[in-house]
Amino acid sequence: MNQDRKKDNGSFHRPVLAQEVVDLLAPVLPGVVVDATFGGGGHSRRLLDEFGGDVTVIGIDRDPEALANAGELGVVAIEGNFADLRHLVSEATDRPISAVLFDFGVSSHQLDEAARGFSYRKEGPIDMRMGPDAGFSASEIVNTWPEERLAEIIRRYGEEPLARRVAAAIVAGRPHQSTSRLATVIAEALPAARRRVGHPARRTFQALRIVVNSELDAITSGLDQAIGLVTGGGRVLAISYHSLEDRIVKRRFHRGAVGCTCPPELPVCGCGNSAELRILTRKPIRASAAEIEMNNRARSAVLRAAEKVAA
Ligand SMILES: C[S@@+](CC[C@H](N)C(=O)[O-])C[C@H]1O[C@@H](n2cnc3c(N)ncnc32)[C@H](O)[C@@H]1O
Repeated sequence: MNQDRKKDNGSFHRPVLAQEVVDLLAPVLPGVVVDATFGGGGHSRRLLDEFGGDVTVIGIDRDPEALANAGELGVVAIEGNFADLRHLVSEATDRPISAVLFDFGVSSHQLDEAARGFSYRKEGPIDMRMGPDAGFSASEIVNTWPEERLAEIIRRYGEEPLARRVAAAIVAGRPHQSTSRLATVIAEALPAARRRVGHPARRTFQALRIVVNSELDAITSGLDQAIGLVTGGGRVLAISYHSLEDRIVKRRFHRGAVGCTCPPELPVCGCGNSAELRILTRKPIRASAAEIEMNNRARSAVLRAAEKVAA
């Protein structure tokens, strides 16, 4: 095992469900694996440690800060949005792709760097752009969007039941310049009981981040392209952290796994449908209690995997 690769970059991001990812990818190697959310390189590093020369890793991230150390790892690093997956991968290789791994959301590095503006626990600008390709910052939303529109995104993307109340408080509290003050304004708009179930601003910050980075559209498009990209027998793995992400993955995998829809009494198929995917995780995989103990981020992680049916 390469000792340099073993160096722990845990301060940047500790990978979740890493052993489960390794187990699901082992049957498709040797080959090329696309790590579509390179982040701190935790999963890529683990794959290189486990499979050495049997794996070539292409690491993609829209955040240039994430890719700064990718070269040292021996990963083919590409800055870009996985919404352009097909194009990004075709620029890097013409070899068959054995698997694509997604690990959605923000990295610990992005959360920990106050200047990136993702954290409701830190004093920073209200930014939340994962990379330079995001068009506008969260500051524009909280300081200029009409109350109705604010309430709509907070309800839809934060699944915040008191979205109207939060939106009204944000509009009344303008202008907003720092994440910590914005978090206080949101917390004060909500009943004290909400403080017992995590930070009261968590849902609203999630909504802002999703909108700024068009996260759900990217997941829908990236997943589709990943399924198209992997070779027959290849695998697509996706780790989600909330129900909006997981619902997209679950529905896409289920849609791909639907085969012939003819009534069983028909002697010959007339619909012409055949399944493009075989779902490998009937029930999504969750982190063990031991992993959650070591890494709180693993608590909400849900891993789904599907295999492309050979043509
Ligand atoms: C949870 S972290 C990945 C952590 C990584 N698996 C590890 O073990 O270190 C998610 C990363 O995906 C990146 N990301 C999120 N959405 C993206 C997108 N649409 N295209 C490219 N990168 C994206 C973020 O910038 C972040 O660095």
